[in-house]
Amino acid sequence: MKIFAYGIRDDEKPALQGWETAHPEIEVAYTQELLTTESAKEAAGSDGVVVYQQLPYTREILQALADEGIHQLSLRNVGIDNIDLKAAKELGFKISNVAAYSPNAIAEHAAIQLARVLRRSKELDAKVAKHDLRWAPTIGREVRMQTVGIIGTGRIGRVLIQILQGFGAKIVAYDIFKNPDIDKQGLYVDSLDELYAQSDVISVHVPSVKENIHMLNKESIAKMKDGAILVNVARGDLMDTDDVIAALDSGKLSGLVMDVYENEVGIFNEDWEGKKFPDARLADLIARPNVLVTPHTAFYTTKAVLEMVHQSFDAAVAFVNGTETRNTVKY
Ligand code: COI
Repeated sequence: MKIFAYGIRDDEKPALQGWETAHPEIEVAYTQELLTTESAKEAAGSDGVVVYQQLPYTREILQALADEGIHQLSLRNVGIDNIDLKAAKELGFKISNVAAYSPNAIAEHAAIQLARVLRRSKELDAKVAKHDLRWAPTIGREVRMQTVGIIGTGRIGRVLIQILQGFGAKIVAYDIFKNPDIDKQGLYVDSLDELYAQSDVISVHVPSVKENIHMLNKESIAKMKDGAILVNVARGDLMDTDDVIAALDSGKLSGLVMDVYENEVGIFNEDWEGKKFPDARLADLIARPNVLVTPHTAFYTTKAVLEMVHQSFDAAVAFVNGTETRNTVKY
C-alpha cells in the first residue's frame, strides 16, 4: 500500500518518520508542495492521499486526483470549509479530518491570550523593553472577575470552559447542540442575545458554516456590554473585520484576541518583514495595544502536530483497507 502526502512541513517530519517506523509495511512518499491540479499527478500509483492546506480543494483538484484513481482525502487538520464537498460527493470521495488533534492546544492559547489582554501584557512588555518599570497605567483585570460567554461547546469550547473555571471565571455558554456535561452544570443561556448581554468576554468556537459567517458584526456587537473583549481562535470570517475595528475605535470593544483573519490565506505563515501587507487593516490591528494577533498558531504545538500526522495517516490506511476511523467525515 502506498500513501502520498502533500504540503509536508519540516516541523512535521519527526512525526512522519515516527509513523513510518511504526508502519514498515506501508510505502510513504511526500512533497512540500500543496495539492494542485498539477501536483495531483505526483500521487499516481498511490492508494491514498494525506493533505493539509488552507487553499481550496476545488472540483478541478479533486477531479485530478480521481483521474489518478484516487477517491480519498485524509486531512491533517480539522476544518473542512475549504473543500468543495458537492464535487467531492459527486466524485465519490471518502474524506477524513483530524477532529481532535489537541483541543487543549487551541483552548490554552485562547485562555493565555485572554489573560494577557486582561493584564495589558502587550503594553507592559513594551514599557519594560524601554526600561520604563513604572506600574501605572497598566493596571490589569482578573480573570475570575469576568463573565465569559463561550459560543460553541464542542471539544475546544469545553476545554476552554474547564481552564477558565480553574481561574474562577463565571461561564455562560450557547450552542444549538447542548452538551450534557455543560447542561448539567447549568451553563447554557437560551439565546445568543442573552450571552451577549451577560458577558464581559465572548469567545467563539463554531465552524465557518454560512449561518455563522460574520456573526460578530455591528448588530451583535451592539448587544454586547460596553468594553467587552472578543476572542476568536476559530475562523476569521466569523467576524466582520470592519465592524470589529469600528467597535475597537469607539471603545465598545476594549480588547481583541485574534488568531485567525478573514483574509489570512496567503498572508499568515509568510514572512512580511520589511514588506507591506496586502490588507492594511491587519497592520492596523497588529499595532493596537489592546489587540493580540497571532498567525493561526493556536493549534501549533508538538503534541497537536504529532496527532495531526499520525491520525491522518491512520485514517488514509483505514480507507484503503475498507474500514473507517472516528475521523471519517460524514457529509
Ligand atoms: C484546523 O485544524 O482546521 C486549523 O484551523 C489549524 C490549521 C491551521 C492547521
